[in-house]
Amino acid sequence: MNKYEIRVIVLAGLLLSAFFFAILYNDFSRNIDVPACVTYSGTFKVPHVKKLDRSTYEVYGVAKMWAFTPEDLTFPEGSTIDLYLTSDDVVHGFNIVKKGVNLMAVPGATTKTTVTFETAGVYRILCHEYCGSGHQYMMGKITITPKKYY
Ligand code: CUA
Repeated sequence: MNKYEIRVIVLAGLLLSAFFFAILYNDFSRNIDVPACVTYSGTFKVPHVKKLDRSTYEVYGVAKMWAFTPEDLTFPEGSTIDLYLTSDDVVHGFNIVKKGVNLMAVPGATTKTTVTFETAGVYRILCHEYCGSGHQYMMGKITITPKKYY
């Protein structure tokens, strides 16, 4: 084997190891919730919100040209949301501005992450993956209301 081929293989192995340990470091040491894929079934294509207790919710979101459903969500301050996301047509992006949530909505697959909203306010959701002529209009909103209203 050529010495340059060996160098490329070693370099690729080192890079692969670095990426792998970066994921482990973020997941365990920094407690950043790395998005996960969960087993897909047709039930994920029915958009809905499930309230588990006073501050814990499950959101089953569906992306479709060119909207997220449910489009407008409201939760009280301090809520923790398990978010399950899929797509009804093409690949979409799902970014919650100011929260660092970055998921892909993939047809036939479900991605999941958990996000906690400590501060009241309006959090925009943007599609950040080009998905057709209406891509720039594809957005949603999560409103977090102050606790005193609940
Ligand atoms: Cu959906 Cu871009």
